[in-house]
Amino acid sequence: MPCPARPYRKEPAVTASRKDDHVRLALAQTPSTSASARAVPNGSPSPFDDVHLIHHALAGTDRTLIDLSSSFAGMHWPVPLYINAMTGGSPMTGEINRDLAIAGHETGLPVATGSMSPYLKDPDTADTFATVRRHHPHGFIMANVNALATPEQARRAVGLLEANALQIHINAVQETVMPEGDRSFGSWPASIEAIATAVAVPVIVKEVGFGLSGITVSQLADLGVAVADVAGGGGTNFAAIENGRREQADYSYLNSWGLSTPAALLDARGCGLPLLASGGIRHPLDVVRSLALGAHAAGVSAAFLATLQRDGLAPLISQIQQWLDQITALMTVLGAHCPAEVSSCDVVLTGSLYDFARQRCLDIKTSTEETA
Ligand code: FNR
Repeated sequence: MPCPARPYRKEPAVTASRKDDHVRLALAQTPSTSASARAVPNGSPSPFDDVHLIHHALAGTDRTLIDLSSSFAGMHWPVPLYINAMTGGSPMTGEINRDLAIAGHETGLPVATGSMSPYLKDPDTADTFATVRRHHPHGFIMANVNALATPEQARRAVGLLEANALQIHINAVQETVMPEGDRSFGSWPASIEAIATAVAVPVIVKEVGFGLSGITVSQLADLGVAVADVAGGGGTNFAAIENGRREQADYSYLNSWGLSTPAALLDARGCGLPLLASGGIRHPLDVVRSLALGAHAAGVSAAFLATLQRDGLAPLISQIQQWLDQITALMTVLGAHCPAEVSSCDVVLTGSLYDFARQRCLDIKTSTEETA
């Protein structure tokens, strides 16, 4: 059983209140307590609705033959679903991290912490992150730093969590809209390369909701990164969140900036790295659609946070168990015995996603075998 949490100590008010703001504003974008009923923030249909798996009525297999585990970049995940980076650094967010870790422990999901900048600035906040390893002692844990972390800071972040992988988030649009954000991004590639060389665990580079293009993923492969989490649009919208923290809210025209998650997957397939999908994953079908577009697993942030904060930990654990059960059921219907086999399923694209794929001259059947 997970050990009881230690009390959290006080840390600098600015960072802590920003972390609390992000939770509050992300929840405000997530209208329903039910992740399966969640609409994208602007009320328009999800870009995932333009991804259609072709029904072959005799394709089905036996449920007992399904293996949910997913292996890529030398990593072995028990399930193709993970709790993606959100938080840590304040007393409230430490409790959220503890509960997300317990949910991961009960269901086998890998878990990422939010950015560990608060810990790197103030070691007193360590326990708001370390709680994740304590409550998910044998799980796959991802530490998270920004692109300007030094190699020494990256190693400290990994060390605190005994992390199995390190996420580096790249978030130029979020920083731009964030009132107190960074304004210089030119040194990010060199810094990412230095971190990837310095840490002993695989490095996963992720966006925060604006997507990674194929060109970006190729660059990341050259920098020594192991995995790309495309983290596209369609879910939590950090342009809107940071704009809500500005006095004038004068960046609202950036709300639709970036690549949606399915568009980013299409663009980044075959560009040299194994892919993860996150951003706007609403239900088990979106997970399976992501696998069909070449992802090895799909990550969820705000939808699971909303269940935790509105309904509690036990409902979150039930929700995740139901998702795993239904992912298994959908793979049974498709005749895909493991997540990798879903990428061979027939897919048709419609609407603006189809237009995007045509204009970008993308072959939706590009093999991902060379990057698996
Ligand atoms: C995030 N996200 C995030 N990502 C990251 O790499 N470091 C971070 O610190 C945070 N912080 C954060 C806070 C909150 C409250 C949320 C909801 C999200 C981004 C997250 O990992 C993911 O990329 C996006 O949220 C898109 O996924 P969803 O929310 O649409 O499932």
